[in-house]
Amino acid sequence: MVRWAQRLVAEVLEAGDLAIDLTAGNGTDTLFLARQVGSEGRVFAFDVQLEALQHTGARLTEAGIAWILDGQGDAGTVRLVHDSHARLTEYTQGPARGIMANLGYLPGGDPGLTTRVEITLEALRQALDLLAIGGRMALVVYIGHPPGEEECRAVEEWLQGLSSRYWHILRLQVANRRQAPYLLVVERRG
Ligand SMILES: C[S@@+](CC[C@H](N)C(=O)[O-])C[C@H]1O[C@@H](n2cnc3c(N)ncnc32)[C@H](O)[C@@H]1O
Repeated sequence: MVRWAQRLVAEVLEAGDLAIDLTAGNGTDTLFLARQVGSEGRVFAFDVQLEALQHTGARLTEAGIAWILDGQGDAGTVRLVHDSHARLTEYTQGPARGIMANLGYLPGGDPGLTTRVEITLEALRQALDLLAIGGRMALVVYIGHPPGEEECRAVEEWLQGLSSRYWHILRLQVANRRQAPYLLVVERRG
């Protein structure tokens, strides 16, 4: 699903654009977004776990991409933000052409440090306000564990209430593995 999410965002995200990773974790999507927007672009990547951001930073350094975290590091393409994504609009005003979120908890990490439904919905509302016309937001959601299931339901219910005049919403699921993570992509049409 991560691969599909990246493909669908790559179709609309170009060099020089602004992009946002709402859940940096170990940096897979942050690295993808940074490569996509290039040195003229900007990426904001959020995580509440400092360790996750440090891993992401190390990964970016390996790839030769400049980043800054809480004022430390070289100002460059990526700003790593050690804060909740629910405060997204305190850090950037957009417009962003690509936004990604991979909900749930960090694989191999503490399952208690998972995304929370109310906070997720607040972050997603702000994220849609920042999305550029023609831009896409890709969310990988996890239905396979109880808090994840509640989160999936709440996110989908909210997305279904958005006007189809302005928003196109795609759902991509593994048809022969119903409990597998799935992808929701929101495209802003107007
Ligand atoms: C499934 S992981 C992300 C995986 C990531 N895309 C990667 O490549 O490794 C979810 C991440 O969301 C983070 N998270 C949970 N609540 C958050 C919040 N309120 N704001 C920002 N990040 C949060 C967790 O710390 C965790 O690292």
